[in-house]
Amino acid sequence: MRNASVSALVLGIAVFGVAVAANEKPTAEFQSLMKANGAANGAIRKAVPARDYDIVAANAITLKDNYAKIEAFFAARSANDAVESARTGGKAAADLEIAAKAKDDAAMETASKALGGTCAGCHTAHRDQLPDKTYEIK
Ligand code: HEC
Repeated sequence: MRNASVSALVLGIAVFGVAVAANEKPTAEFQSLMKANGAANGAIRKAVPARDYDIVAANAITLKDNYAKIEAFFAARSANDAVESARTGGKAAADLEIAAKAKDDAAMETASKALGGTCAGCHTAHRDQLPDKTYEIK
């Protein structure tokens, strides 16, 4: 009985300890990277249906660069699924740039959908919204 409650206490501390260590406030740099992602992705979502190839290509380049930084950020934390999602996003951004420059509408649609999917996937796995609507990295 005594042993059981001691183990429960130790387990409780361990779980609590992990939960505290897992969440991290984003740095100003990480946050501005994400805000730039939001702006670039918003521009792409309008420019793809409008067939505004130059705008699509320019924002795809921004996202390609951002994804390289995001990949490095999560690699330093050994968050392999996030690294993988950043890599997929970087590849989709590179494909989107090529498609826009080639004025290939079908390839542009495919690449922009693949790109957008990586945002949502990583946010579900690694973004925590606090009651005050700000975010933490988990
Ligand atoms: C590999 C993980 C990952 C990917 C991929 C990713 N994000 Fe994020 N994003 C995060 C995390 C973690 C946060 C929470 C920390 C923060 O707010 O900076 C975040 C926050 C944000 C925010 C809120 C920024 C703020 O604090 O106000 C926006 C906007 C955003 N992401 C847009 C995007 C868009 C658009 C994409 C895709 C083009 C994207 N993100 C891809 C992990 C990711």
